[in-house]
Amino acid sequence: MKIHNFSAGPSILPQEVIKKSAEAVLNLDNSGLSLIEISHRSSAFISIMDEAQNLVKELLNLPKGYSVLFLQGGASSQFLAVAQNLLKKDGKAAYIDTGAWSSKALKEARLFGNVEVVASSKDKNHTYIPKEYSIPSDASYLHLTSNNTIFGTQFKKFPETNIPLVCDMSSDIFSRELDFSKFDIVYAGAQKNMGPAGTVLVIVKDEVLGKSERQIPSMLDYQIHASKGSMFNTPPVFAIYTSLLTLKWIKSLGGIKAVEKQNEAKAAILYNEIDSNPKFNGVAAREDRSLMNVTFTLTNENNKARFDSLAKDAGLSGINGHRSVGGYRASIYNAMPIESVQVLVDVMKKL
Ligand SMILES: Cc1ncc(COP(=O)(O)O)c(C=O)c1O
Repeated sequence: MKIHNFSAGPSILPQEVIKKSAEAVLNLDNSGLSLIEISHRSSAFISIMDEAQNLVKELLNLPKGYSVLFLQGGASSQFLAVAQNLLKKDGKAAYIDTGAWSSKALKEARLFGNVEVVASSKDKNHTYIPKEYSIPSDASYLHLTSNNTIFGTQFKKFPETNIPLVCDMSSDIFSRELDFSKFDIVYAGAQKNMGPAGTVLVIVKDEVLGKSERQIPSMLDYQIHASKGSMFNTPPVFAIYTSLLTLKWIKSLGGIKAVEKQNEAKAAILYNEIDSNPKFNGVAAREDRSLMNVTFTLTNENNKARFDSLAKDAGLSGINGHRSVGGYRASIYNAMPIESVQVLVDVMKKL
């Protein structure tokens, strides 16, 4: 039976990417060597790293003056790296709290200085994106989470500000066209739209670095990683190679513009069903609904056993909601085919 993988992360990757990546583990480009046993300083791996960095720049249409890094430690280590690199010694950082990941990010920043939470959606269990707030012009940076994986909300517009803008895009990077020149630092764990867990993509505007006035451990220092081309320490070669394959797959589909169209179509059929079927309710405020993580609940909890059983019989996997929200969450990342979303919709209709 075909399994439709709606997991929130690690999550679905294109089948052709998984296949090619498996082949490279056995024999990289007919070299007789495995991808995971060659030196990261070999010409073979250096060209993989170069190609991956260049493809990120190309797909995201990054202006000049940005470095693309593939680091370790996940998005979670960027929660502290961001503060170490940008938060001035006696300064403060501004955070928008839109859910569990934002809260974790600001908790880490508090280890290094003052944090002002300029807006929060906590009052309604993070089911919306705050719109009205003012951003202190003396803060070292403003941090936000573009897509809230757990609650299913997503920024559709980003705040205009004169201070550096930092964004955790872990669960919606490469899913829609954005003007990246507005951002000073963007980071994203690989394990949703890019590849396997093990690497975190960090995009840094070179001009914001070196201003924190503090000593930074080398492994957290973006300037060091940028100056060494992400080779300060041994990079996670498997995760980077697999990410490169996904980036090539995105390009082959027609780039981010084409992928965004597909994402809109997938989300539309699912949200339409949620809105038109009286047996379901959407969790997120309509105008803030995520194109990546669709959260919904049953109107009547007595239907749970039947819905779960229909879902299982149809091969739907990973649709349980996060424990802090309950209900269901269908993660429909780039690699999720519209046919699988239709299978979910058909199950909802059957209930
Ligand atoms: C928005 C967001 N930020 C951060 C993280 C944490 O990422 P990592 O596990 O790579 O540290 C996640 C993981 O799901 C996430 O969804």
